[in-house]
Amino acid sequence: MTSTFTRMDESTAEEWAVIGAETFKNQPRVADRTLAMLRSLSDITDGFSTDQLTHSLQTATLAERAGADEEIVFAALLHDIGKAISVPNHPEIAAAIIKPYVRNDVYWMIKAHQDFQGRHYYAHFGGDPNARDQYEGQEWYDLAASFADEWDQVAFDPNYDTLPLEHFEPLVRSMMSGTRSPIGVPKSAS
Ligand SMILES: [Fe+2]
Repeated sequence: MTSTFTRMDESTAEEWAVIGAETFKNQPRVADRTLAMLRSLSDITDGFSTDQLTHSLQTATLAERAGADEEIVFAALLHDIGKAISVPNHPEIAAAIIKPYVRNDVYWMIKAHQDFQGRHYYAHFGGDPNARDQYEGQEWYDLAASFADEWDQVAFDPNYDTLPLEHFEPLVRSMMSGTRSPIGVPKSAS
């Protein structure tokens, strides 16, 4: 059965039950498309010493080897995925993609990551290297600082032993298999 409504204010509970079940069934599509977006970062170098896929994998590798938990490693892998679409606002894009699947401090670690990274390069083009100061007092401040200082800003080494995307695929699939939030795709559908 598919819905027949042409406007939402004429939809029925039965139709929404079908849509909910179909959406739940198709949730693996989210990981498939996310992995495809990550792969597309191999085409983007923009003057860096590594392409953006290598940089993303290296950031996740460093996080994993430092003992970070799965949500943080997952977020580290996806932190620059927004660059597949638009570099200037890439942190917001990445943060929005991971938001249903991670806890709040991990979401903010990614949403604010460019301002924390700024400590290491904003001075080169007139930006404020202390842009991270606006977040002082946030409970996720230390996590975001560790992410930027220890894993992200150092992950441009083409000679580092970076783990391949295949290593992280099971993590992406499990993290994106269901949402943490009751809003959006249901955890289960009857
Ligand atoms: Fe990065």
